[in-house]
Amino acid sequence: MPEHRIALESTGGASPRTRSRIKFGVCGIGRIGALHCRFFSRDRERYELVALCDLDPTRVNALKAEFGGKGYHDFSAFLADPEMELAIIATRSLDHARNAAQALAAGKTVLLEKPIGVTTEDCRLLRQLDQEYPGKLFFGHNHRFEPAFQNTCGIIASGLLGNIQVVKLCKHHQFMRRNDWQMRLDCGGGQLSVWGPHLLDQGLRLLGTPVREVWSYLRRVLTPGDADDHVKISLVGENGVVVELEISNSAALTSPYCAIYGDRGALTYEQDQQTIHLRYLAPQFRWPEAAAEAGTPVPGSAMSAEQELPWIEETRRVEPDTNMWEQVEIEIARHLFNALREGVPFPISNAEALEVVRITELVKEQNPQFNWKR
Ligand SMILES: NC(=O)c1ccc[n+]([C@@H]2O[C@H](COP(=O)([O-])OP(=O)(O)OC[C@H]3O[C@@H](n4cnc5c(N)ncnc54)[C@H](O)[C@@H]3O)[C@@H](O)[C@H]2O)c1
Repeated sequence: MPEHRIALESTGGASPRTRSRIKFGVCGIGRIGALHCRFFSRDRERYELVALCDLDPTRVNALKAEFGGKGYHDFSAFLADPEMELAIIATRSLDHARNAAQALAAGKTVLLEKPIGVTTEDCRLLRQLDQEYPGKLFFGHNHRFEPAFQNTCGIIASGLLGNIQVVKLCKHHQFMRRNDWQMRLDCGGGQLSVWGPHLLDQGLRLLGTPVREVWSYLRRVLTPGDADDHVKISLVGENGVVVELEISNSAALTSPYCAIYGDRGALTYEQDQQTIHLRYLAPQFRWPEAAAEAGTPVPGSAMSAEQELPWIEETRRVEPDTNMWEQVEIEIARHLFNALREGVPFPISNAEALEVVRITELVKEQNPQFNWKR
Protein backbone atom coordinates (compact mmCIF):
# COMPACT_ATOMS: atom_id res chain seq x y z
CA MET A 1 0.00 0.00 0.00
CA PRO A 2 1.52 3.37 -0.91
CA GLU A 3 1.78 5.79 2.03
CA HIS A 4 1.05 8.62 -0.30
CA ARG A 5 -2.65 9.02 -0.95
CA ILE A 6 -4.45 11.82 -2.70
CA ALA A 7 -8.15 12.54 -2.32
CA LEU A 8 -9.78 12.75 -5.74
CA GLU A 9 -12.01 15.74 -6.23
CA SER A 10 -15.68 15.19 -5.54
CA THR A 11 -17.86 15.62 -8.58
CA GLY A 12 -21.07 15.13 -6.60
CA GLY A 13 -24.20 17.24 -6.48
CA ALA A 14 -27.78 16.82 -7.68
CA SER A 15 -28.96 18.20 -11.01
CA PRO A 16 -28.57 22.00 -10.97
CA ARG A 17 -32.13 22.23 -12.36
CA THR A 18 -33.47 21.45 -8.89
CA ARG A 19 -31.69 24.45 -7.33
CA SER A 20 -31.94 28.20 -7.89
CA ARG A 21 -29.31 29.82 -10.07
CA ILE A 22 -26.59 31.89 -8.48
CA LYS A 23 -26.85 35.54 -9.45
CA PHE A 24 -23.28 36.75 -9.71
CA GLY A 25 -21.24 39.83 -10.49
CA VAL A 26 -17.61 40.31 -11.52
CA CYS A 27 -15.44 43.23 -10.43
CA GLY A 28 -12.35 43.77 -12.57
CA ILE A 29 -13.23 42.65 -16.08
CA GLY A 30 -9.73 42.56 -17.55
CA ARG A 31 -7.99 39.49 -18.94
CA ILE A 32 -9.25 36.98 -16.36
CA GLY A 33 -12.42 38.78 -15.22
CA ALA A 34 -13.80 38.66 -18.79
CA LEU A 35 -13.18 34.89 -18.83
CA HIS A 36 -15.08 34.49 -15.55
CA CYS A 37 -17.99 36.39 -17.15
CA ARG A 38 -17.88 34.12 -20.18
CA PHE A 39 -17.58 30.74 -18.49
CA PHE A 40 -19.83 31.29 -15.49
CA SER A 41 -22.52 32.82 -17.75
CA ARG A 42 -22.23 29.92 -20.18
CA ASP A 43 -23.29 27.58 -17.34
CA ARG A 44 -26.87 28.85 -17.59
CA GLU A 45 -28.36 26.17 -15.35
CA ARG A 46 -26.22 27.32 -12.45
CA TYR A 47 -25.35 30.99 -12.95
CA GLU A 48 -26.81 34.29 -14.11
CA LEU A 49 -24.63 37.37 -14.58
CA VAL A 50 -26.38 40.38 -12.99
CA ALA A 51 -23.57 42.91 -12.40
CA LEU A 52 -20.27 44.00 -13.94
CA CYS A 53 -17.83 46.49 -12.51
CA ASP A 54 -14.68 48.07 -13.89
CA LEU A 55 -12.97 51.43 -13.74
CA ASP A 56 -12.94 51.37 -17.54
CA PRO A 57 -16.44 52.20 -18.91
CA THR A 58 -15.56 50.85 -22.37
CA ARG A 59 -14.98 47.41 -20.89
CA VAL A 60 -18.19 47.54 -18.88
CA ASN A 61 -20.23 48.52 -21.93
CA ALA A 62 -18.63 45.90 -24.17
CA LEU A 63 -19.21 43.04 -21.70
CA LYS A 64 -22.72 44.25 -20.82
CA ALA A 65 -23.58 44.08 -24.51
CA GLU A 66 -22.19 40.54 -24.68
CA PHE A 67 -23.46 39.02 -21.41
CA GLY A 68 -26.14 41.37 -20.04
CA GLY A 69 -26.29 42.50 -16.40
CA LYS A 70 -25.98 45.98 -14.90
CA GLY A 71 -22.80 47.98 -15.32
CA TYR A 72 -20.95 49.79 -12.54
CA HIS A 73 -17.80 51.90 -12.36
CA ASP A 74 -17.82 52.24 -8.62
CA PHE A 75 -17.09 49.26 -6.36
CA SER A 76 -19.42 50.42 -3.53
CA ALA A 77 -22.34 50.84 -5.96
CA PHE A 78 -21.58 47.38 -7.39
CA LEU A 79 -21.61 45.88 -3.89
CA ALA A 80 -24.95 47.57 -3.16
CA ASP A 81 -26.61 45.68 -6.04
CA PRO A 82 -29.43 43.84 -4.23
CA GLU A 83 -29.72 41.08 -6.86
CA MET A 84 -26.09 39.93 -6.66
CA GLU A 85 -25.40 36.98 -4.33
CA LEU A 86 -21.86 36.15 -5.43
CA ALA A 87 -19.12 38.71 -6.11
CA ILE A 88 -16.14 37.47 -8.10
CA ILE A 89 -13.16 39.72 -7.37
CA ALA A 90 -10.65 39.89 -10.25
CA THR A 91 -9.09 43.30 -9.69
CA ARG A 92 -5.34 43.84 -9.39
CA SER A 93 -3.58 41.67 -6.83
CA LEU A 94 -2.88 44.37 -4.22
CA ASP A 95 -6.62 45.10 -3.94
CA HIS A 96 -7.80 41.51 -3.50
CA ALA A 97 -7.90 41.07 0.27
CA ARG A 98 -9.34 44.54 0.88
CA ASN A 99 -11.96 44.11 -1.87
CA ALA A 100 -12.96 40.75 -0.38
CA ALA A 101 -13.41 42.37 3.04
CA GLN A 102 -15.65 45.07 1.53
CA ALA A 103 -17.75 42.53 -0.39
CA LEU A 104 -18.21 40.28 2.66
CA ALA A 105 -19.18 43.27 4.79
CA ALA A 106 -21.80 44.11 2.13
CA GLY A 107 -23.31 40.64 2.65
CA LYS A 108 -21.98 39.01 -0.52
CA THR A 109 -20.47 35.59 -1.00
CA VAL A 110 -16.98 36.05 -2.48
CA LEU A 111 -14.84 34.14 -4.95
CA LEU A 112 -11.42 35.77 -4.68
CA GLU A 113 -8.79 35.58 -7.42
CA LYS A 114 -5.23 34.57 -6.71
CA PRO A 115 -2.92 35.82 -5.32
CA ILE A 116 -5.49 36.01 -2.54
CA GLY A 117 -3.13 38.31 -0.63
CA VAL A 118 0.16 40.06 -1.33
CA THR A 119 1.20 41.93 1.81
CA THR A 120 1.59 40.81 5.42
CA GLU A 121 -1.46 42.93 6.24
CA ASP A 122 -3.43 41.07 3.52
CA CYS A 123 -2.50 37.75 5.10
CA ARG A 124 -3.66 38.88 8.53
CA LEU A 125 -6.91 40.21 7.05
CA LEU A 126 -7.62 37.00 5.12
CA ARG A 127 -7.21 34.89 8.27
CA GLN A 128 -9.60 37.20 10.08
CA LEU A 129 -12.18 37.09 7.23
CA ASP A 130 -11.98 33.31 7.11
CA GLN A 131 -12.97 33.22 10.79
CA GLU A 132 -15.60 35.97 10.59
CA TYR A 133 -17.46 34.77 7.49
CA PRO A 134 -17.64 30.98 7.51
CA GLY A 135 -19.00 29.56 4.25
CA LYS A 136 -18.91 32.94 2.49
CA LEU A 137 -15.30 33.28 1.29
CA PHE A 138 -13.88 31.05 -1.47
CA PHE A 139 -10.41 31.18 -2.97
CA GLY A 140 -9.90 30.84 -6.73
CA HIS A 141 -6.98 28.44 -7.05
CA ASN A 142 -8.55 27.26 -10.28
CA HIS A 143 -5.54 25.40 -11.64
CA ARG A 144 -6.27 22.72 -9.04
CA PHE A 145 -8.73 21.58 -11.71
CA GLU A 146 -6.26 21.14 -14.57
CA PRO A 147 -7.23 17.80 -16.14
CA ALA A 148 -3.60 16.57 -16.26
CA PHE A 149 -3.15 17.36 -12.57
CA GLN A 150 -6.42 15.60 -11.69
CA ASN A 151 -5.42 12.57 -13.79
CA THR A 152 -2.05 12.54 -12.01
CA CYS A 153 -3.73 12.52 -8.59
CA GLY A 154 -5.73 9.50 -9.72
CA ILE A 155 -2.63 7.65 -10.93
CA ILE A 156 -0.81 8.30 -7.65
CA ALA A 157 -3.86 7.20 -5.63
CA SER A 158 -3.96 3.94 -7.64
CA GLY A 159 -0.53 3.05 -6.20
CA LEU A 160 1.01 2.37 -9.63
CA LEU A 161 4.08 4.50 -8.89
CA GLY A 162 4.49 3.21 -5.31
CA ASN A 163 5.50 5.65 -2.60
CA ILE A 164 6.14 9.09 -4.07
CA GLN A 165 9.64 10.47 -3.40
CA VAL A 166 10.04 13.52 -5.61
CA VAL A 167 7.61 15.88 -7.34
CA LYS A 168 8.82 18.46 -9.87
CA LEU A 169 6.42 21.06 -11.21
CA CYS A 170 7.76 23.49 -13.72
CA LYS A 171 5.78 26.25 -15.40
CA HIS A 172 7.83 27.51 -18.32
CA HIS A 173 6.04 30.46 -19.87
CA GLN A 174 6.88 31.88 -23.25
CA PHE A 175 10.48 33.16 -23.35
CA MET A 176 9.96 36.92 -23.19
CA ARG A 177 10.71 40.21 -21.50
CA ARG A 178 7.28 40.41 -19.85
CA ASN A 179 6.48 44.07 -19.33
CA ASP A 180 2.97 44.49 -17.89
CA TRP A 181 2.01 45.56 -14.32
CA GLN A 182 2.50 41.93 -13.24
CA MET A 183 6.26 42.56 -13.48
CA ARG A 184 6.23 45.52 -11.05
CA LEU A 185 6.57 45.00 -7.31
CA ASP A 186 4.72 48.24 -6.54
CA CYS A 187 1.71 46.67 -8.34
CA GLY A 188 1.97 43.36 -6.44
CA GLY A 189 3.56 41.61 -9.43
CA GLY A 190 6.26 38.97 -9.88
CA GLN A 191 5.93 35.31 -10.84
CA LEU A 192 5.78 34.34 -7.15
CA SER A 193 2.36 36.04 -7.15
CA VAL A 194 1.39 35.38 -10.77
CA TRP A 195 1.93 31.63 -11.10
CA GLY A 196 3.29 30.80 -7.62
CA PRO A 197 -0.16 30.25 -6.05
CA HIS A 198 -1.08 27.65 -8.70
CA LEU A 199 2.15 25.68 -8.45
CA LEU A 200 2.22 25.85 -4.65
CA ASP A 201 -1.39 24.68 -4.50
CA GLN A 202 -0.65 21.70 -6.76
CA GLY A 203 2.67 20.95 -5.05
CA LEU A 204 1.11 20.94 -1.58
CA ARG A 205 -1.60 18.53 -2.73
CA LEU A 206 1.04 16.18 -4.14
CA LEU A 207 3.19 16.50 -1.01
CA GLY A 208 0.27 15.15 1.00
CA THR A 209 1.60 16.07 4.47
CA PRO A 210 2.49 19.35 6.23
CA VAL A 211 5.61 21.17 5.05
CA ARG A 212 8.76 20.69 7.15
CA GLU A 213 11.22 22.86 5.21
CA VAL A 214 11.10 25.60 2.57
CA TRP A 215 14.05 26.74 0.44
CA SER A 216 13.75 29.25 -2.36
CA TYR A 217 15.67 31.54 -4.68
CA LEU A 218 14.07 34.15 -6.92
CA ARG A 219 15.63 36.12 -9.75
CA ARG A 220 14.86 38.85 -12.23
CA VAL A 221 16.35 37.63 -15.50
CA LEU A 222 14.68 39.21 -18.54
CA THR A 223 11.82 41.46 -17.51
CA PRO A 224 12.35 45.22 -17.71
CA GLY A 225 10.26 45.40 -14.51
CA ASP A 226 11.72 45.04 -10.99
CA ALA A 227 9.89 41.82 -10.06
CA ASP A 228 10.90 38.16 -10.13
CA ASP A 229 10.51 36.38 -13.47
CA HIS A 230 12.33 33.21 -12.40
CA VAL A 231 11.20 31.36 -9.27
CA LYS A 232 12.69 28.27 -7.63
CA ILE A 233 11.09 26.80 -4.50
CA SER A 234 11.83 23.46 -2.80
CA LEU A 235 9.53 22.03 -0.15
CA VAL A 236 10.21 19.03 2.06
CA GLY A 237 7.21 17.38 3.68
CA GLU A 238 7.02 15.75 7.08
CA ASN A 239 6.88 12.50 5.06
CA GLY A 240 10.30 13.30 3.51
CA VAL A 241 8.81 13.86 0.04
CA VAL A 242 10.56 16.63 -1.91
CA VAL A 243 8.58 19.05 -4.10
CA GLU A 244 10.57 21.24 -6.50
CA LEU A 245 8.78 24.13 -8.15
CA GLU A 246 10.08 26.31 -10.98
CA ILE A 247 8.41 29.18 -12.79
CA SER A 248 10.22 30.98 -15.55
CA ASN A 249 9.90 33.41 -18.41
CA SER A 250 13.49 32.74 -19.44
CA ALA A 251 13.69 29.10 -20.51
CA ALA A 252 14.20 29.05 -24.27
CA LEU A 253 13.83 25.26 -24.22
CA THR A 254 11.18 24.00 -21.87
CA SER A 255 11.27 21.14 -19.35
CA PRO A 256 8.29 18.88 -18.62
CA TYR A 257 5.54 20.58 -16.63
CA CYS A 258 5.42 17.67 -14.23
CA ALA A 259 7.76 14.84 -13.27
CA ILE A 260 6.99 12.51 -10.37
CA TYR A 261 9.26 9.74 -9.09
CA GLY A 262 7.89 6.94 -6.95
CA ASP A 263 9.69 3.84 -5.66
CA ARG A 264 7.89 1.71 -8.30
CA GLY A 265 7.81 4.09 -11.26
CA ALA A 266 7.57 7.60 -12.60
CA LEU A 267 5.38 9.85 -14.70
CA THR A 268 5.95 12.99 -16.70
CA TYR A 269 3.91 15.37 -18.80
CA GLU A 270 4.95 18.30 -20.95
CA GLN A 271 3.94 21.96 -20.83
CA ASP A 272 1.05 21.30 -23.25
CA GLN A 273 -0.47 18.84 -20.72
CA GLN A 274 -1.90 16.61 -23.46
CA THR A 275 -0.45 13.19 -22.58
CA ILE A 276 1.00 11.54 -19.49
CA HIS A 277 4.01 9.24 -19.91
CA LEU A 278 4.36 6.44 -17.39
CA ARG A 279 7.06 3.87 -16.67
CA TYR A 280 6.34 1.56 -13.77
CA LEU A 281 7.09 -1.91 -12.45
CA ALA A 282 4.49 -4.59 -13.18
CA PRO A 283 2.00 -4.37 -10.28
CA GLN A 284 2.47 -8.07 -9.35
CA PHE A 285 6.28 -7.68 -9.07
CA ARG A 286 7.74 -7.86 -5.55
CA TRP A 287 11.38 -7.05 -4.75
CA PRO A 288 13.34 -10.22 -3.88
CA GLU A 289 15.51 -10.13 -0.75
CA ALA A 290 18.84 -8.38 -1.45
CA ALA A 291 21.80 -6.91 0.43
CA ALA A 292 24.55 -4.46 -0.47
CA GLU A 293 27.98 -6.17 -0.73
CA ALA A 294 30.96 -4.84 1.23
CA GLY A 295 33.63 -6.50 -0.97
CA THR A 296 35.62 -4.99 -3.86
CA PRO A 297 33.62 -5.52 -7.08
CA VAL A 298 35.11 -7.26 -10.11
CA PRO A 299 35.68 -4.45 -12.66
CA GLY A 300 32.81 -4.38 -15.16
CA SER A 301 30.46 -6.39 -12.93
CA ALA A 302 26.83 -5.29 -12.48
CA MET A 303 26.03 -2.99 -9.55
CA SER A 304 22.36 -3.91 -9.42
CA ALA A 305 20.68 -6.62 -7.36
CA GLU A 306 18.50 -7.47 -10.39
CA GLN A 307 19.49 -8.35 -13.97
CA GLU A 308 16.21 -7.11 -15.38
CA LEU A 309 13.09 -5.42 -14.12
CA PRO A 310 9.54 -5.93 -15.45
CA TRP A 311 8.89 -2.41 -16.76
CA ILE A 312 5.59 -1.31 -18.25
CA GLU A 313 5.60 1.85 -20.36
CA GLU A 314 2.45 3.73 -21.28
CA THR A 315 1.35 7.02 -22.75
CA ARG A 316 -2.12 8.06 -21.62
CA ARG A 317 -4.16 10.83 -23.15
CA VAL A 318 -5.28 13.37 -20.55
CA GLU A 319 -9.03 13.16 -19.91
CA PRO A 320 -11.19 15.06 -20.55
CA ASP A 321 -9.54 16.02 -23.83
CA THR A 322 -10.47 19.71 -23.60
CA ASN A 323 -8.84 23.12 -23.50
CA MET A 324 -7.18 23.25 -20.07
CA TRP A 325 -7.71 27.01 -19.63
CA GLU A 326 -11.44 26.62 -20.24
CA GLN A 327 -11.76 23.45 -18.18
CA VAL A 328 -10.41 25.09 -15.01
CA GLU A 329 -13.12 27.76 -15.32
CA ILE A 330 -15.88 25.22 -15.95
CA GLU A 331 -14.77 23.14 -12.97
CA ILE A 332 -14.43 25.96 -10.46
CA ALA A 333 -17.90 27.23 -11.43
CA ARG A 334 -19.40 23.75 -10.98
CA HIS A 335 -17.66 23.10 -7.66
CA LEU A 336 -18.67 26.51 -6.31
CA PHE A 337 -22.31 25.85 -7.21
CA ASN A 338 -22.16 22.44 -5.50
CA ALA A 339 -20.73 24.10 -2.39
CA LEU A 340 -23.29 26.91 -2.27
CA ARG A 341 -26.41 25.00 -3.31
CA GLU A 342 -25.69 21.36 -2.42
CA GLY A 343 -23.51 21.69 0.67
CA VAL A 344 -20.68 19.71 -0.99
CA PRO A 345 -17.37 20.90 0.52
CA PHE A 346 -15.49 23.17 -1.90
CA PRO A 347 -12.38 21.18 -2.93
CA ILE A 348 -10.05 24.14 -2.25
CA SER A 349 -10.33 24.53 1.51
CA ASN A 350 -9.52 27.93 2.97
CA ALA A 351 -6.87 26.33 5.19
CA GLU A 352 -5.12 25.01 2.05
CA ALA A 353 -5.24 28.41 0.36
CA LEU A 354 -3.95 30.15 3.50
CA GLU A 355 -1.05 27.67 3.64
CA VAL A 356 -0.09 28.81 0.13
CA VAL A 357 -0.02 32.37 1.48
CA ARG A 358 2.07 31.32 4.50
CA ILE A 359 4.70 29.69 2.28
CA THR A 360 4.71 32.68 -0.05
CA GLU A 361 5.49 34.87 2.96
CA LEU A 362 8.42 32.59 3.90
CA VAL A 363 9.73 32.77 0.33
CA LYS A 364 9.64 36.57 0.51
CA GLU A 365 11.60 36.51 3.77
CA GLN A 366 14.19 34.29 2.07
CA ASN A 367 14.51 36.69 -0.87
CA PRO A 368 15.19 40.14 0.57
CA GLN A 369 17.00 41.06 -2.68
CA PHE A 370 13.49 42.01 -3.84
CA ASN A 371 11.90 45.09 -2.37
CA TRP A 372 8.63 43.39 -1.40
CA LYS A 373 5.62 45.47 -0.57
CA ARG A 374 5.01 44.61 3.11
N1 LIG B 1 -6.67 32.35 -11.72
C1 LIG B 1 -6.13 32.61 -12.89
O1 LIG B 1 -5.98 31.72 -13.70
C2 LIG B 1 -5.71 34.03 -13.20
C3 LIG B 1 -5.35 34.34 -14.52
C4 LIG B 1 -5.01 35.66 -14.78
C5 LIG B 1 -5.00 36.61 -13.78
N2 LIG B 1 -5.33 36.25 -12.50
C6 LIG B 1 -5.31 37.25 -11.42
O2 LIG B 1 -6.44 38.10 -11.61
C7 LIG B 1 -6.10 39.46 -11.30
C8 LIG B 1 -6.38 40.32 -12.52
O3 LIG B 1 -5.50 39.95 -13.53
P1 LIG B 1 -5.71 40.40 -15.05
O4 LIG B 1 -4.62 39.80 -15.79
O5 LIG B 1 -7.11 40.12 -15.45
O6 LIG B 1 -5.49 41.98 -14.90
P2 LIG B 1 -6.01 43.12 -15.90
O7 LIG B 1 -5.15 44.29 -15.63
O8 LIG B 1 -6.11 42.58 -17.27
O9 LIG B 1 -7.49 43.38 -15.38
C9 LIG B 1 -7.79 44.01 -14.17
C10 LIG B 1 -9.08 44.81 -14.37
O10 LIG B 1 -9.50 45.33 -13.12
C11 LIG B 1 -9.95 46.66 -13.34
N3 LIG B 1 -9.87 47.35 -12.06
C12 LIG B 1 -8.75 47.64 -11.35
N4 LIG B 1 -9.09 48.24 -10.17
C13 LIG B 1 -10.43 48.30 -10.14
C14 LIG B 1 -11.38 48.82 -9.20
N5 LIG B 1 -10.99 49.35 -8.05
N6 LIG B 1 -12.68 48.72 -9.50
C15 LIG B 1 -13.10 48.17 -10.66
N7 LIG B 1 -12.24 47.68 -11.60
C16 LIG B 1 -10.94 47.74 -11.33
C17 LIG B 1 -9.04 47.21 -14.42
O11 LIG B 1 -9.61 48.32 -15.09
C18 LIG B 1 -8.92 45.97 -15.34
O12 LIG B 1 -9.94 45.94 -16.31
C19 LIG B 1 -4.63 39.45 -10.90
O13 LIG B 1 -4.53 39.47 -9.52
C20 LIG B 1 -4.10 38.15 -11.46
O14 LIG B 1 -3.03 37.64 -10.69
C21 LIG B 1 -5.70 34.99 -12.22
